[in-house]
Amino acid sequence: MNGGTRALPRLGKIGYGGDYTPEQWPEAVWHEDVRLMREAGVNQVSVGIFAWALLEPAPGDYDFGWLDRVIAMLHDAGIAVNLATPTAAPPAWFFQRHPQARQVTREGHVLGGGARHAFCPSSPAYRKAAAGITAQLARRYGDHPALALWHAHNEYGWANSACYCEASASAFREWLRLRYGTLDELNAAWGTSFWGQRYGDWTEIDPPRLAPPGVNPTQQLDFLRFSSDEYLACFRDERDVLHRLAPGVPVTTNFMAPNCKWMDYWRWAAEVDVISNDHYLQAERTDNHIELAMAADLTRSLAGGRPWLLMEHSTGAVNWQPRNIAKAPGEMRRNSFAHIARGADSALFFQWRASRFGAEKFHSAMLPHAGTSSRMWRDVARLGADLSNMDELVGTRVVPDLAVVWDWEAWWALELEWRPSVDLGYLDRLSAYYDRAWRAHRTVDFVHPEGDLSRYPMVLVPSLYLMSSAAAANLAAYVRDGGTLVVSYFSGIVDETDTVHPGGYPGALRDLLGLSVEEFLPLRAGSRVRLDGDLTADVWTERLVLAGAESVRRYLDGPAAGEPAITRHRCGEGTAWYVSTRLNGRDLDAVLTEAGLVPHAGLPDGLELVRRVGDSASYLIAINHSDRDAELAASGKELITGAPCHGTLPVPAGDVRVLRTTS
Ligand code: GAL
Repeated sequence: MNGGTRALPRLGKIGYGGDYTPEQWPEAVWHEDVRLMREAGVNQVSVGIFAWALLEPAPGDYDFGWLDRVIAMLHDAGIAVNLATPTAAPPAWFFQRHPQARQVTREGHVLGGGARHAFCPSSPAYRKAAAGITAQLARRYGDHPALALWHAHNEYGWANSACYCEASASAFREWLRLRYGTLDELNAAWGTSFWGQRYGDWTEIDPPRLAPPGVNPTQQLDFLRFSSDEYLACFRDERDVLHRLAPGVPVTTNFMAPNCKWMDYWRWAAEVDVISNDHYLQAERTDNHIELAMAADLTRSLAGGRPWLLMEHSTGAVNWQPRNIAKAPGEMRRNSFAHIARGADSALFFQWRASRFGAEKFHSAMLPHAGTSSRMWRDVARLGADLSNMDELVGTRVVPDLAVVWDWEAWWALELEWRPSVDLGYLDRLSAYYDRAWRAHRTVDFVHPEGDLSRYPMVLVPSLYLMSSAAAANLAAYVRDGGTLVVSYFSGIVDETDTVHPGGYPGALRDLLGLSVEEFLPLRAGSRVRLDGDLTADVWTERLVLAGAESVRRYLDGPAAGEPAITRHRCGEGTAWYVSTRLNGRDLDAVLTEAGLVPHAGLPDGLELVRRVGDSASYLIAINHSDRDAELAASGKELITGAPCHGTLPVPAGDVRVLRTTS
C-alpha cells in the first residue's frame, strides 16, 4: 500500500481543527469544547495522541470508556476524528517492566522518563506493546463512523533520531547484512582499509557510538539510514495492524518536513496512505513565510503532487523556541492559506485548547487561556468561516513552475564532520535557491535526484554532495532532452558510500557540466570575493578547468582570481549551469534570471501567488505578506468575499484572496 493508492479521508471539506486532549480536562469541559468547536467551524480533530497510560493504566487493563464518550460526542456534533495510536508516549509501567526498552544516546546515557519519545525503536518489547495497543484501538474503533483517519504515533524521530543500545546494535548488524550480503562487500563499501578498520565478523560492528574523532563516515551514513528505516519499521508494524483490523481507513503519520533532518521522508512517503505534515514558523525570522512555503512545497512533493494534510501548525506562539514571538494580526490566516495554496486539504493546529499544566502550557491554541473574548479566538472563528467556503479546493492540484532536487542522504553526508569547510550547509543552499524562486513568484516542486524531471523547464540542484551514478545519469538525460539545469558547488562529489567519484571532482557531473574542479578553495570566515557583473560571494570558491563549458562570470579576486566562477555548458538540447561559489539574494538572482528563472511579471514584492487546478475550475490563491494593498489582473469569483471580479482582484495588505478563475 503506498501514498498513491488510498484517498484522503473523504470529508469533502477543507479539514479544520486540531489536536484535542480531553483527557486533560473534566468531562464537563468536553461539552463546552464541542459547542465551541461548532462555533469555530471545526470539522476534524486528532484524539488520543499521548493517551496510552490513560487507555491502558496497567498492563492489559484497558479503560476505553472515556474515549468512547469523547468520540461519540464528536460524532454527534459532525466532527470527524483522526484517531491516534498513542505509541509516542509509552506509560511509566512499560519502562519499569522493560528498562532495556529505554533509548540510549550516542554517549551511552540511558534516557529517563517523565517526557515522551524515550523508547528504543528496535526494542522487541516496545514493538510488541505498540502493536498491542494499536490492535486494541483498531478493533474497538475501526468501524466507528466518526473515524476519518488513523494518526499513527506522533512525529517519529522527533526527540531522538537514533538509539545506540545493544538491541539497536544487533538490529543495525542485521540491516547491514541485508544491505551488503557479505562482509567483503561491507568492508569495500565502508573503505575499512583506511585506518585499519577491517571487520572479520558481523558482531565486531557497532553503531557509531561516541569515539575519538574521525568515525568512519560510511558507518555513520549507514547508521542514519538504518535509524530512519527502523522508525519506519515501527510505523509499518502499526500500519499493518490497522490495515488488517480496520480495512479501508487510511493511515498517516505526521512528518516534520523539512525540520526533521533525520527521517528520509522519500522512503517514508512510499509507505503512508496519506501524507501529513506539522509545521511551525521559525518565529524570529522575518522571512519565515518563505520557509513555510518551502515546507509546504516539500510536503506536496512527498505526496507526489497529490493533496496532503497540514496536521499541526500554531495559532500563535509556540513554547519551545528561544523567544516565542506571537503571530502578528492576520499572520495565522496567511499561514493557513499558504499551506492550502500549496496543496494542503486541511489546516489543523496543535492544539484545540491550551493546557493548564505540563510542559506546553505556554503554547498557543485555537482556544487560548484568554478564552473566547480574545483576538485569537475571533481569528480562529473567522478562519473557520472562511475555510467553509473553500470546499471546492479539495482534491485540486498545484501547478509547479520548476523543480529543486532534494535528498536527505545528501544532506546527512554533506554535514558529517571533516568536510572542506564548516560553512558548508545543505539547508543553506536549498533555502537560498528556494528563496529566489519564491521571490520570483514561481512555484517549486521538490524531486528526488533519481525522480522524473521531464515536466520541468528548469531544475535547480543545490549542493547535492552525495550523488549516485543513477542520479547523475538522470540529470544528464534531463539536460540532453532540453532541460535547463543549475548546479551549485560541492555537488556530485561522492557516491552512496561516501566514496569520491573517480577521475577528479565533480566525478558524477564532469561531462554534463563540461568542466572539472581542480581544487576546493574555501574562504576565511567573513571574507568575500568579487565576480564580474558586480556580484559578490562568500564561503566557497573553486579552481575550475573548463572542458567544453563557457565562462559566464569570472572571479575578480580571492584565491581563484581571474578564473571562471560561473559556467554554462550546452549539452544535447539543453544547458547545464554551474555556480562554483556561494551567492545569495540579488547576486544569486542575477545568475538564475540569466539561466531562465524569470520573475512572474507585474507582481509586487511580498505577494504569494499559487494556482490549484481541478477538473472543472482553476483557483488562484493570493496572499499579501506586505503592508501595501496589491492588485492582480484576473477575473472570476472571489471565494472569501463572494464577490465577482472583472479584470482586477484587489488583495488588501496582509490579507488573502482565493479566486475561481474563468481564464
Ligand atoms: C509538535 C508535536 C506536538 C506539540 C507541538 C508543539 O512537534 O507534535 O505534540 O508538542 O510540537 O509545538
